Amino acid sequence: MASSVLTIIAILACAFSFVDANPNRKICVVKGGQSKDIDDAPAILHAFKECGQHGKVLFNPQTYYVNSVMNVSWLKDVDIDIHGTLEWSTNITYWLNNSMQVGYQNQSTAFIIGGDNVRINAFGTGTFNGNGDDWYKWIRQQENTSNYPGRPHALTLSRLTNSAIHGLRFLRSQMWNGLGIAIGSIGQYNDQFETIERVSVNDIDYENTLHAFYVKTWTDDQNGYPPNGGGGGLGYLSGVEVTNLNATGLRGAAFAVSQCTRFSGAPGVGNCTNSQFQIKNVAIKNLSGTTKSTRVASLQCSAVAPCSNITIADVDLRLANSTLASDYLCGNLINPMGFTCTGDVCVGGSATGEC
Ligand SMILES: *[C@@H]1O[C@H](CO)[C@@H](O)[C@H](O)[C@H]1NC(C)=O
Ligand SMILES: *[C@@H]1O[C@H](CO)[C@@H](O)[C@H](O)[C@H]1NC(C)=O
Ligand SMILES: *[C@@H]1O[C@H](CO)[C@@H](O)[C@H](O)[C@H]1NC(C)=O
Ligand SMILES: *[C@@H]1O[C@H](CO)[C@@H](O)[C@H](O)[C@H]1NC(C)=O
Ligand SMILES: *[C@@H]1O[C@H](CO)[C@@H](O)[C@H](O)[C@H]1NC(C)=O
Ligand SMILES: *[C@@H]1O[C@H](CO)[C@@H](O)[C@H](O)[C@H]1NC(C)=O
Ligand SMILES: *[C@@H]1O[C@H](CO)[C@@H](O)[C@H](O)[C@H]1NC(C)=O
Ligand SMILES: *[C@@H]1O[C@H](CO)[C@@H](O)[C@H](O)[C@H]1NC(C)=O
Ligand SMILES: *[C@@H]1O[C@H](CO)[C@@H](O)[C@H](O)[C@H]1NC(C)=O
Ligand SMILES: *[C@@H]1O[C@H](CO)[C@@H](O)[C@H](O)[C@H]1NC(C)=O
Repeated sequence: MASSVLTIIAILACAFSFVDANPNRKICVVKGGQSKDIDDAPAILHAFKECGQHGKVLFNPQTYYVNSVMNVSWLKDVDIDIHGTLEWSTNITYWLNNSMQVGYQNQSTAFIIGGDNVRINAFGTGTFNGNGDDWYKWIRQQENTSNYPGRPHALTLSRLTNSAIHGLRFLRSQMWNGLGIAIGSIGQYNDQFETIERVSVNDIDYENTLHAFYVKTWTDDQNGYPPNGGGGGLGYLSGVEVTNLNATGLRGAAFAVSQCTRFSGAPGVGNCTNSQFQIKNVAIKNLSGTTKSTRVASLQCSAVAPCSNITIADVDLRLANSTLASDYLCGNLINPMGFTCTGDVCVGGSATGEC
């Protein structure tokens, strides 16, 4: 039974490969089984195998059901056009046991994309639907809810170079949701020097996210090991431009920095401002929309390596009564540009920013 299903899928994927007007660019159209009971991962992997180097992989405007892990780490000069939805299954037993270890921070994943010159276009409609509701319900019943071993991330971009992803929607991811564009957590590995540089984030629409942009680091005190413990890392984040942001119903500070991550195994009290990881040269410009928080920014930076050269400009975030959100809360910030701090930031341990 299972093997005949697999055979059908493989045939459909091959039957839809054809040669483009560009004689060198082969196109594979992925044909899904159109049923939750048929795993489309083999057909998708087959299309990548046929067309993932110097070709084009095309997803039609339909739902593809992904019931098993996919590792496509060897792409080269490929167009990936996604017009439809990839929907991941909710067999939690399967995913906990089979999601792929990524090593870093002891995290695991459902899907790995890697390679060089990869152009993913999803046209603002293509969607990765993690079917997270089942995961959110399930995790609330567990003893340990944070970074549960084997709970997969929706997507891991691994050693992906010279590549672009446009117009892709992420819906109800299996693991983490709704924090906005989040950088980190970083500084989790004692004495390790890590850098995040030259990041450009443009033209983002947010719906009901906690933040628009969030940077999170561990403190200088190591408590345990990743994923739920760590700290003591060195390094910096520098050269970040975040522009043209449109938010609807933000739930917290639009821009949040939290340098006091120190959870599992950490003592209830600790030093929130001793991180040696520095955040500098970040510009957030042209942010508008609606928010439930009066805070535009909550910048809880390190006293040892203060945040510097942070620009926040052209902000028009309105509360429900159409008043402008106007709180800029700061701690250990040098030379704010384009804004004035209006108060002290809350200083406390947090996984999601603010206190
Ligand atoms: C879920 O996955 C497990 C482990 O792979 C498998 O044994 C089980 O049959 C699957 N359950 C369903 C409902 O598909
Ligand atoms: C987990 O996966 C391993 C190897 O794939 C398999 O041998 C084992 O039976 C699986 N366990 C469960 C609970 O599905
Ligand atoms: C993904 O595939 C690549 C290439 O085959 C391999 O080197 C890597 O170990 C795989 N990653 C995982 C987590 O399985
Ligand atoms: C994973 O967790 C183990 C046990 O807590 C720890 O010893 C190890 O350093 C961690 N590895 C990574 C890559 O974070
Ligand atoms: C939950 O976490 C605690 C503290 O890290 C650990 O001692 C315990 O074994 C964990 N329980 C499970 C079921 O993983
Ligand atoms: C500001 O961002 C919005 C999207 O929220 C965009 O439509 C608009 O063109 C941007 N303005 C400028 C001057 O770039
Ligand atoms: C911002 O998003 C809202 C809700 O999706 C939309 O109505 C509005 O046109 C967007 N504004 C801009 C400038 O893109
Ligand atoms: C936290 O550590 C830093 C650096 O060691 C020190 O300057 C600061 O006074 C400490 N803060 C507290 C509350 O202990
Ligand atoms: C300040 O940060 C912005 C944004 O990353 C960068 O373009 C600019 O060069 C920085 N200025 C200095 C003096 O480093
Ligand atoms: C609008 O709402 C905010 C937040 O609830 C409140 O602080 C502010 O006073 C309100 N402004 C007016 C004019 O009602």
